[in-house]
Amino acid sequence: SNKKLLVLPGDGIGPEVVRETLRVVDWMAKKRSVSFDVQEGLVGGAAYDASGTPLTDETLADAVDADAVLFGAVGGPKYDDLPFEKKPERGLLRLRKEMDLFANLRPAMVFASMADNSSLKRDLVAGLDIMILRELTGGVYFCEPRGIEDLPGGGKRGFDTQAYSTPEIERIGRVAFDLARKRRNKVTSVEKANVMMSGVLWRQVMTDLHKREGEGLEYENMYADNCAMQLVRNPKQFDVIVTDNLFGDILSDCAAMLTGSLGMLPSASLGAEDPTTGRRHALYEPVHGSAPDIAGRGIANPIAELLSFAMLLRYSFDMGEDADLVEKAIDNVLSSGLRTADIMQEGKAKVSTGVMTDSILKELDKL
Ligand code: NAI
Ligand code: MG
Repeated sequence: SNKKLLVLPGDGIGPEVVRETLRVVDWMAKKRSVSFDVQEGLVGGAAYDASGTPLTDETLADAVDADAVLFGAVGGPKYDDLPFEKKPERGLLRLRKEMDLFANLRPAMVFASMADNSSLKRDLVAGLDIMILRELTGGVYFCEPRGIEDLPGGGKRGFDTQAYSTPEIERIGRVAFDLARKRRNKVTSVEKANVMMSGVLWRQVMTDLHKREGEGLEYENMYADNCAMQLVRNPKQFDVIVTDNLFGDILSDCAAMLTGSLGMLPSASLGAEDPTTGRRHALYEPVHGSAPDIAGRGIANPIAELLSFAMLLRYSFDMGEDADLVEKAIDNVLSSGLRTADIMQEGKAKVSTGVMTDSILKELDKL
């Protein structure tokens, strides 16, 4: 049966980078005989303009029904004054919630020829390929009780609750193990079991899960503060880092900046496994937004979206070899010295969105 792909380009440069990615989808169909059943839908401001809501029930149903969703970006100044529930971002948040996307994958990859964009020494990051897996629906951002209360003697007290249950920890742990098996078979679980009870449970549940279900995987526990230090000291020691919502927020931004290029960062969010089909809901999107400052000029970097599609191939369709091809083609084109404006360096050739993709497709033909 064909692989059902729902494409949601969104706003600003979203449609520009998604259009380029669909050229690679076409290439896959022609040259690798893998056909996708591609359907397109509206999301964000584009959906609001068409139907008065940033995500219709029909599009949501299509997303739930699809094998994977390829998302562009949403938002823009045109929509800034809309009421909260009409805002473009609500479309994305509703998708995440209804698809129960609890696992956020944020890889940090540095192609050899891009290592000079990093703020770290080139040897530390050249060829880097690590994955931060962040729990996205639990923890201190959502747990109750939370609030700001008045203190009897005057002044106020703000408080939050950090809590994780065994099932919540196990389900993100299983995703970490699945990912590591498609990568380099190493998992680092990160918490602060030295000072937090939720961390004590996290460490215990993860360690037990590894004993039961982690055969063939190298496993370690690490404190979050040490992990931040290790990411900057020697990031290549990691393969998959799995952690909670709060630590994952911070560590993934830290890891992203090891690469130094927003226009090149992909991401994915995965949901629960369907017990009958074994399929996971999944949404793939670049880390960047709709970039209204450059939209419509044909200069956006398509690589973040293309790498998101490579993740889609690897993690939703088990097409690791094809994902490798796409990544290799991008690597080669960057090595040949082509750059979009956002990653321009001295001595390189500045190209448009379309020419960057043309070159990647030519490279794919050669591989
Ligand atoms: P942004 O990521 O859209 O842009 C930040 C800067 O990076 C801009 O100067 C932009 O030109 C540049 N940039 C981003 N992606 C690029 C690419 N592929 N190629 C070349 N340059 C690129 O973030 P910003 O400006 O804070 O937000 C703009 C809009 O996007 C807002 O409406 C925001 O709410 C929305 N947004 C949407 C996201 C999503 O759809 N998941 C995520 C982040 C922001
Ligand atoms: Mg963040």
